[in-house]
Amino acid sequence: MKNAGFELEPKRRAAIAASKKGGAAPARIARPAPPVHPGIPFHRPTYGEQDERALVNCLRSGRIVGDGDCTRRASEKLAEILKTPHVLLTPSCTHAMELAMLTLRLQPGDEVILPSFTFVSSANCVLRAGGRVVFADIVPDTLTLDPADLARKLGPRTRAIIPVVYAGVSPDMDAITAALRGRPIDIVEDAAQGLGASYHNRPVGTIGSIGCFSFHETKNFSTGEGGAFVTTRDDYMSRAEVIREKGTNRKQFLQGLVDKYTWVDVGSSYLPPDFVGALLLSQLDKRDYIRQTRETLYRRYLEELAPLRDRGQISLPVIPPGIESNHHIFHVLFADEPTRSRAVAFFRSRNIGTAFHYLPLHLSPVGLSLGCHPGDCPVTESISGRLLRLPLYPSLRVAEQAVVIAALFEFLKS
Ligand SMILES: Cc1ncc(COP(=O)(O)O)c(C=O)c1O
Repeated sequence: MKNAGFELEPKRRAAIAASKKGGAAPARIARPAPPVHPGIPFHRPTYGEQDERALVNCLRSGRIVGDGDCTRRASEKLAEILKTPHVLLTPSCTHAMELAMLTLRLQPGDEVILPSFTFVSSANCVLRAGGRVVFADIVPDTLTLDPADLARKLGPRTRAIIPVVYAGVSPDMDAITAALRGRPIDIVEDAAQGLGASYHNRPVGTIGSIGCFSFHETKNFSTGEGGAFVTTRDDYMSRAEVIREKGTNRKQFLQGLVDKYTWVDVGSSYLPPDFVGALLLSQLDKRDYIRQTRETLYRRYLEELAPLRDRGQISLPVIPPGIESNHHIFHVLFADEPTRSRAVAFFRSRNIGTAFHYLPLHLSPVGLSLGCHPGDCPVTESISGRLLRLPLYPSLRVAEQAVVIAALFEFLKS
C-alpha cells in the first residue's frame, strides 16, 4: 500500500530498501546546524549529545506513551532532589497548576490569592477550576508576594494562595505562612522558575502542600515543554493521579489494585510522552554544571554592574539571607519605563537579546474585567515597566557577557 499522507525522503527510502535486501544500513539522519544568532541571544538552551542520546534511546525502546520507564526514573530522581514523596510529570507547569487547582476541588466563590506580577498560568488555573482570583502586590526587593498585602487580601472565602518564585528566588515563606494565621488555606507554590532553589534549606516547591515546576525551553532544566506537580500530601497525590489519568483509576488498575479501570472523577490528560522524562533525566544529570555556570555568570553581573547601582542609575537583584537562588534570571531595574524602552532598542541595535517580563495581570483585559483597577498593586505597576532581563545561560561565554556589560555602561553614559 502506498504511504497515505507522507512520503519518505528518497535517500532514506533507498537506504531502508537496501537494508531490507541485506544491503547497507539505513543512512544516518543528518544533523542540521543550530540556528545562528547574529550577536548574543537572550537565551540558548543547554542541549547536547547526551540529551540527543537520551531521546533516541527512549524512542528506540518502542514505547513512548506517558508514564513509561523514563518518566518513572525522572520522577524518582526529582523526588530525590526535592526530598519530597510525590512527583507527577506533566506536559507543562501550566498543566501542573491546573491539576493543582482541580485537586483542591475549588467551590464556586472560593478565592485564591496570587501576585499580579506573574505569568498568566498562575491565574488561569484558578478561573478554569471555577475559583475567584484575588491579586496581591509584590515586595520591591525579591519581586515576590508581599506578605503584608496578602494579609490585607485574606477573606472568609480564601481557599488557597499561590506564592510565585521569581527569578529563582523564593518568596518569604515564613512571613507568608504567618500571614495566614493558622487558617487551613492551601499554599500552592508556583515554582515554574524554581528547580534547584531553596528557602532555608528546603527546596522551593515543597514548602506548601503542592508545588508546580516548569521545564519549558527557557528554564534552567529544559524538555522543550514540560512540568511537574509535587505534593507532600498522600490524599492530594491519590486525587491528582486520578485527575491526571482522565478521571479514571487506571493507575490502581496497572498496579493490580482493581480488576478494571473506570471513570471515578472529573479529569483530564496531564501525562507527557515518555521522552519528556528521558530528556529531563539527562538534563538533571547536568545539574552541577548548570548551577555552577549560572551562579558564576550571575555573580559577575552583580559585581561588574555594582558601579551603575552605586551611581543610582539602576537597581540590581537582591537575594535575602537564607535563600538559595538557582540564578534563573538576572534583571536590572531602570529609573523609569522610557529609559527601559530606550535600553531595549539600544541592546537590539547591538544584536544583544534582552527581555522585559510580566505585565501586571490586574491591569490586563481579563484583570480589568474581574473588577481590578490601576493602583491596586502599585509596586507591580512600577516594577513591570522598568525591568529588563539580561542574557544568562551556561553557554554564555565570558567574552559575550563582557560585551553585554560594556553595552549597559555605554547606554547609561549616553
Ligand atoms: C511563574 C510562572 N508560572 C507558570 C509558568 C508556565 O510554565 P509552562 O510554560 O511550563 O506552562 C511560567 C512560564 O514561564 C512562569 O514563569
